[in-house]
Amino acid sequence: MATGKTIERTQKGKKWGAFAAPSGVWRGKDRRGLEGVGAPELRAILTAGREVEPRANRPETRTGELAGRAVATMFFEDSTRTRTSFCLAAERTSASVVDLSVATSSVNKGETLIDTARTIEAMGVSAMVVRARQNGAARMIADAVACPVINAGDGKHEHPTQGLLDAYTIAEARGRLADFDLSGLTVAIVGDVASSRVARSGIAGLTGLGARVVCVGPPGLAPRSLESLGCAVAHELDPVLPGVDAVMMLRIQFERHGDGEGKGAMKPAAAGIASIREYRELYGMTEERASRIKGGGKGGVILHPGPMNRGIEIDGAVADGARSLVLRQVAHGVAVRMAVLSMILGA
Ligand code: NCD
Repeated sequence: MATGKTIERTQKGKKWGAFAAPSGVWRGKDRRGLEGVGAPELRAILTAGREVEPRANRPETRTGELAGRAVATMFFEDSTRTRTSFCLAAERTSASVVDLSVATSSVNKGETLIDTARTIEAMGVSAMVVRARQNGAARMIADAVACPVINAGDGKHEHPTQGLLDAYTIAEARGRLADFDLSGLTVAIVGDVASSRVARSGIAGLTGLGARVVCVGPPGLAPRSLESLGCAVAHELDPVLPGVDAVMMLRIQFERHGDGEGKGAMKPAAAGIASIREYRELYGMTEERASRIKGGGKGGVILHPGPMNRGIEIDGAVADGARSLVLRQVAHGVAVRMAVLSMILGA
């Protein structure tokens, strides 16, 4: 069991331990997105993450919480940090991990995601963590299997645990860890918002916790239609900087634009921009721009979910500099995912 300060909450007469489901609402459920998730739930999970955070990134941590459970990570799309983070989170909550390697799985022989998911489920797993290229993939799989399914990124739709870890990181940087109330803060999300599941979960999570979000980018990457998600939209970055408390930079997801051909190839026209050079001039986070974020000097903080394209949306000096929270995000990812797994699978 988790040690340390225990948050004790009562649900139908039951006491929940440190980062077991404080409200009970997530237990046994799928987690597909943050849209529509209320502030009490968001705060409960972030609080659970805070409780385990001091131990989350220690290799020896085993909370015992999920002993006897098996978590399958099924990544049908590339990932470095999210996949590793979920594997470590499962291990550190004492679950066993089945990390499906798509490169060697039967998906490459034409098997559908659903057949693969059912096959893994038939071997007895307690939950699946799924990443796939299709919007709604996690939901589709959740409808086909009995165990809970956690969305680790579905196409351009959502990436809920990333949204949670980003909210956590901003709360920490702005001294809001006590209650995760982000009222009065403004966060800019800059870049290819249209393609970004990180942005969609970020908008839902941050606004749910009381922050104001402004999405910034050229019209092709940050269209006005995003306003329907409850955020503001701006096409110029410089006027926005003095009014925001934190800035999240996003890479241009060239692989999701145009014909989808030539994975990894940078085709500016397909992404609706004139050139990479012009994009960098207008939207790139340079040291000079970073110094103009609200609070100036040390005040402005920069986030990036990774992978970063240094020299395009963010300069290396900013990514590695004092204002960068990039590695705090990564560290918080393990804590938040331990909390999510425990809330869903905990006793
Ligand atoms: C991103 C993703 O895969 O959605 N990264 C992440 O999960 N940390 C963002 C991206 O691919 O640009």
